Formats: sequence, structure tokens, C-alpha cells
Amino acid sequence: MRMMMSVIIVGLQWGDEGKGKFVDYLARNFDAVVRFNGGSNAGHTVMVNGRKVVFHLLPSGALWGKRLFIGPGVTVNPEELAQEAALFPGLKLGVDLRATVLTPFEVWLDRKMEEMRGKAAIGTTGRGIGPSYAGRMFRLSLRVCDLLSGKPPDYGPLAGAFGYSEDLTGWAEMARKEVEEFAGDVPSELMEIHDKGGSLLFESAQGSLLDIIYGTYPYVTSSNTIAPYVSVGAGFPFSMVDSVMGVSKAYQTRVGSGPFPTELDGELAEGIRRKGMEYGSTTGRPRRVGWLDLVSLKYSVRLNQTNSIILTKLDVLSGLGRLRVATKYNVDGRPTDSFTSIFTGNAVPEYTDLDPIPDVDWAGYAREGRLPQQAMKLVEFIEDQVKVKVSTVSVGQERGMTVEL
Ligand code: GDP
Ligand code: IMO
Ligand code: MG
Repeated sequence: MRMMMSVIIVGLQWGDEGKGKFVDYLARNFDAVVRFNGGSNAGHTVMVNGRKVVFHLLPSGALWGKRLFIGPGVTVNPEELAQEAALFPGLKLGVDLRATVLTPFEVWLDRKMEEMRGKAAIGTTGRGIGPSYAGRMFRLSLRVCDLLSGKPPDYGPLAGAFGYSEDLTGWAEMARKEVEEFAGDVPSELMEIHDKGGSLLFESAQGSLLDIIYGTYPYVTSSNTIAPYVSVGAGFPFSMVDSVMGVSKAYQTRVGSGPFPTELDGELAEGIRRKGMEYGSTTGRPRRVGWLDLVSLKYSVRLNQTNSIILTKLDVLSGLGRLRVATKYNVDGRPTDSFTSIFTGNAVPEYTDLDPIPDVDWAGYAREGRLPQQAMKLVEFIEDQVKVKVSTVSVGQERGMTVEL
């Protein structure tokens, strides 16, 4: 009997929670790893024996030589896919025929629109993600199957409106060669693996608060990022998923613009940023940092129907001298524990102060599989507030810097 058949790893914050580390950590026990949303805006870091690998499009199970899949809900830049694929000889990769193809036009348009927005810029990763999902809705984008059948890219109305005049015919020919060896019917393959008793690990990109519908719109990404999207993005029914594991940092970060009630500034913020190396994995931008926000955590835990929480970067909070967690918002003078209140008002967080976590030898604790008592208090506080078990705590970048509770 297998332990688990299908599991989703999802980010509970604004991305960069440490999903990559935990997809890699868990992948050895699964038959296949599957991306089902977003595109190369993702930057999922895996650190093994000092070697750092950042996955953008490939699922983060590549280091184990697992079967990898990119589902129909992903947008694929063929050049970036080829570059990443080249790093893993013998790669066993399937890309769905229905997945959207992202061309240089969308990258161009992403940057152009950000420029045009000026001060109201979203701070995108510049990878063309928004225009690509929009192009799909406009029914202008190519799918992988269109590329294979030699259909030329034609963004007619959109390209005309923005004054884009590049001819992408040659590009499409090159792109076809990059994707044809991987193209297939991913949902059917996933179901086949499942029906034969195989196990699937689904890797969400971005975070729940960046979801196009449920996140802090318009400061969000352009895909659905929450676990139930697996039904669409991978064509694998959410009802057949055995467990959703939500990843959250022990504090909060965000890259790009948008509301961030618990944001810190000054020396404390700089200290956390430096210690946590909070610079974007895709763009290198400094991440905004703040205290853990349980109002938003409860919201994401529910959206994803989260079964357990993986709490990361606890080591970064140690030795800070102070530890705070937001448990409520005050919106226009009224206390609330509803995250959606920030869509209509200005949220001022209310904090609970906890005992500071001392600087300790985290490697030692990881080896012994335990946590300092002050860190356990934080874990218990989160469990008590959010009503979901923290199953795993991460205390460093490396695979082994992990404590199972
Ligand atoms: P993802 O997008 O969710 O996969 O996360 P990123 O890879 O973008 O960002 C997480 C960063 O934190 C990476 O540099 C990880 O190597 C690092 N990281 C993950 N877990 C821990 C941890 O427990 N402690 C520390 N110090 N770093 C961690
Ligand atoms: P992973 O998977 C953190 C953010 C961008 C910007 C907004 C829109 O590594 O957690 P986009 O390029 O998607 O149109 O940008 O979303 N963003 C991320 N932030 N982690 C990510 O991915 C992100 N992907 C997009 O910074 O604010
Ligand atoms: Mg990331």
C-alpha cells in the first residue's frame, strides 16, 4: 500500500513560500510531478548539498528523475522550456497539447503595459504571463497543438492595437521543434498513472493571495493559483486528491505592488530580508517583508481546503529579539477577522506578541527532529488559530533542514 496517491503543494501567501524545496523533498515518494498553473513567472528553489537549482517551468521533481508533466492550464514559453530541459538529460516530460504557447509578443506586451501603467504598475515578472492568459481569453493565443500543426501565430487585433509588427512565423517554426517531443495528452496520462496505483504530486505556482479571482486584485498574477484549479489546470479532479499541503513562511513576503497589512520597514525589515535572502528567484527584486498574517492565512487555508501546513523559514525569525503575529484587522475602526475586508477598506493589523525565538544551531535541531520550545509555541499558536495541523517545519534551505512534527 502506498502512503498517499495524490497530493497538492500550494502557496498560502504571495508566493515564494518555499514550495520548490518541499516539492523536491516529497518528490522521491511520488511517480510524477505536475505543474498546473502559471508559467515561467514561477521561481522554485531547490538546494541540495550546496547546489542551487531554480525551476521556472519544469516541475521541481527533476532532480529525482521523476516523470514530469505540464498541464493544460500552464502557459509555456518554448524557448525557456528548452533551456530548462537542456539542463536535465534524459528528462521524462509531458506537455499538454492544450497548454497555451507564450510568444515574444506577450513578453513585449507585458513590459509595454507595465510601462504604460506608470505608477500603477503591477510589478510583474515581465515574463508575458498576463498577456498570455488574456490572449487565451481573446481566443488569439496558440496552443501547443496549434504550433505542432503549423498554424502561424496571429494576434491581429491585439498586435494592431498596440503597434506590434514582428513576424513570428520563423519563431513558431523554432518553437515547434522545441516542444514537439514533449507534447501529449497530460490529463489522460495522469489518470492512467493514477489508475495503475501510481502517485501524483501537484505543484502550484505563485500563492493563493496572488490568485486572479481570490487574491489582492489587480495586484495578482493572471492564473488561478489555488488547489481546486488542479481540476482545470491538470485535468485531474480535485475530488480525487488525497491531501492538500499548504506552504507558508513563518513571516510574510511579497514581490511587486499591492496591499500588505503587516508590512515592516526600516532596520527590522532589512534584517529579515538579509537573513532570509528575500530577493526574487525570478527577477532578483528585493521582497517586501512583514509579520505573519493569520487573517490571510485562515483565508488561504480555507480556499485550498488545506489538510496540513508546512511552515518555512522559521530559522530566519530567530535572534530577532521580537516576534509578532497578526490575528485580526482593524478596518475603519472596526475589528474583523475577515480577509476580504481589505478589498474595501484600509486594514490595520492587531498583533499578538510571542516569546522571541533564540538563535540556535538549527542543523542540530533538524538532525534531532525537534524545535526549540519558543518555536513550538509559535507552531501551537498557529495551529490553535487556524485549526489546521502544522505537519512540517523548515529551518534552512537544504532538503535536510526539515523537522517533521
Ligand atoms: P517558492 O517559489 O515557493 O518555491 O520559493 P522560492 O524558491 O522562490 O523562495 C524561497 C527561498 O527560501 C529559496 O531561496 C529557498 O531556498 C529558501 N528557503 C526555503 N525554506 C527555507 C528555510 O526554511 N529557511 C531558509 N533560511 N531558507 C529557506
Ligand atoms: P512562485 O511560484 C512571488 C507576482 C509578481 C507580481 C504579480 C504579477 O515562485 O511563488 P506576473 O508576472 O505573474 O504577471 O506578476 O505576481 N508573482 C510572484 N511573486 N512568487 C511568484 O511565483 C510569483 N509569480 C508572480 O511579482 O507582483
Ligand atoms: Mg519563488
